Formats: sequence, C-alpha cells, structure tokens
Amino acid sequence: MEDLATLAELHGTDKRDHGYIPFYDSLFSPKRHESVTLLEIGVGGFSDPEDPSAGGESLRLWRDFFPGGTIVGLDVLDKRAVAEERVHVVQGSQVDPRCLERLACQYGPFDIVIDDGSHVPAHVRFTFDALLPHLKPDGIYVIEDTQTSYWPEWGGAFRLNARRTSMAMVKQRLDHLNHAEFKRPGFVPSDADRRIVEIRARHNIVAFVCGSNDRPSRLNRSHPVPTRSWLREELAPVAVQRLRHPVVLSALDKAGARGGARWVRRRLFGWVS
Ligand SMILES: C[S@@+](CC[C@H](N)C(=O)[O-])C[C@H]1O[C@@H](n2cnc3c(N)ncnc32)[C@H](O)[C@@H]1O
Repeated sequence: MEDLATLAELHGTDKRDHGYIPFYDSLFSPKRHESVTLLEIGVGGFSDPEDPSAGGESLRLWRDFFPGGTIVGLDVLDKRAVAEERVHVVQGSQVDPRCLERLACQYGPFDIVIDDGSHVPAHVRFTFDALLPHLKPDGIYVIEDTQTSYWPEWGGAFRLNARRTSMAMVKQRLDHLNHAEFKRPGFVPSDADRRIVEIRARHNIVAFVCGSNDRPSRLNRSHPVPTRSWLREELAPVAVQRLRHPVVLSALDKAGARGGARWVRRRLFGWVS
C-alpha cells in the first residue's frame, strides 16, 4: 500500500507543494484502515474553470489513502464530473447554511472535515461553527491556508490581535482547551469547548481533534474566585477599555462633564488639555 507522500506525488495535489503531507500523515495515519467519511471543502481545478472535470486531485488522494473511506467534495463550482466510485461531489457554498445542513444530513456525521475552500476568514469561521456539530465524537477538523488570516485583501488583518480572523478563532480555541480552569462567574462551556481536546498546527495549517474535554479543574473547587481579583482582573480592564473609547470621551465632553473627560484623558493617556 502506497504511503501518503507517494500518493500525493501520484495525484499531483498542491498539498505537497504547501508542505502539508507530513502533517496529514501523522494526523490521519491512525484512521487509515477505518471506514472514514471525509468531507473536503474545495475540489480545485480553478486554473481551468471552463473544464468541469479539472481538479479533484486531493479527493483522489484521500480515496486511495483511505481504502475503506467515503470521500465527499464540496465546491461552489460544478465539479460533479470529478465524482467516481467512493467519491461524491456536491455543488454549493461553504457559507450557505442550508447547503451545509443538507450535506451533513446526506453524508454526515463526518470523521474528517478539511476546509480548503475560499480561505476567506469569515467563511472559515462560519463553516467551522456550522460543521463542527456534524463531526463524529473523535472527528478531526482541518483548516488549510491560514495565511489569509494576516492578509487584509482576503478579509484578514495585519494586527496579530485582530479579533475576527481565522487565527483569532484558533487562538481563542487554544484558550478554551483550558475552559475548566476559567474562573469567570457564570461561564458555561460551549459544545465546542467540551468537544475539542487537542489543537495541532504548523505553518498555514491547523487541526482540531475532537474527544471529550470534560475533565474538571481540581483548583476550581478548592479555590473559589475571590470577588476582589475578579473585579481587578476582569471588570476593571474592560471598563478602562470602554472609557478610552473616543465616543465615551466626547460624550463626557458633550454632557458638560469636561472635568471628567480631562481626568480620564490625564489618567489613561497622560494628556494634559
Ligand atoms: C485551493 S482549491 C481546492 C484544492 C483542492 N482541495 C486540492 O487540494 O486539490 C479551492 C477551491 O475552493 C472552491 N471555493 C471557493 N469558494 C468556495 C465556497 N464559498 N464554497 C465552496 N467552495 C469554494 C474553489 O472553487 C476552488 O475549487
């Protein structure tokens, strides 16, 4: 049986050029002999959009790597000509909730989902939220080409602390691996918090591994949150952030509270007006 690198060479997928093959190999090898259902968003062949049978290299790669697998491709373009035995192709968009629901009803739950579609960060986040509930309990969700997270022309952002990018979601998910340790009063873990047990990442690719992230924190029980530290760590920084907003400052000015606005500026920015 051929290994993944050989199959990638054989089928000419660009996953090889991007350096993803060793990552996929370690991630998927334990499942190789299972009858997995794998959904890949993005069938490819965009260099020749007139040819409906162009693309499908990665679908063929997965077909051969998982000999007992069912492979499903989703693409916004009509790529149904790529379908063959054990390879199904659906036309639709990764940001169309009805399309994703239909797909999940027909082929889910999935063992593996790979998002190699539009790579627009808002799409990546939307699709992740929509499809994670359709992963099997030990499923794996992969996002490729996360470089767009840093590219404004793709809907990403230069700033590393930008909040709506795909990598912002990954970083938030990293924190939430530790949700049992959160001491914020009233915090309730989401389904995603309780399902994702591991996050693996390399240059431009990230994988979320599902399981059961329900281990309680021993510390949470023995050390209830002291109200003072909650005020200091949680509430005060948010209040300060809000006060810093120019709208708040000009509202204070307008309300005639010039003294108050001056005080805020002086305390927070060191301005003297
Ligand atoms: C990078 S290619 C996929 C390559 C393929 N997975 C491979 O490894 O051989 C990206 C594909 O995503 C498709 N695509 C773009 N926007 C999409 C969307 N909103 N929903 C689904 N597919 C989309 C494009 O038509 C294109 O075929």
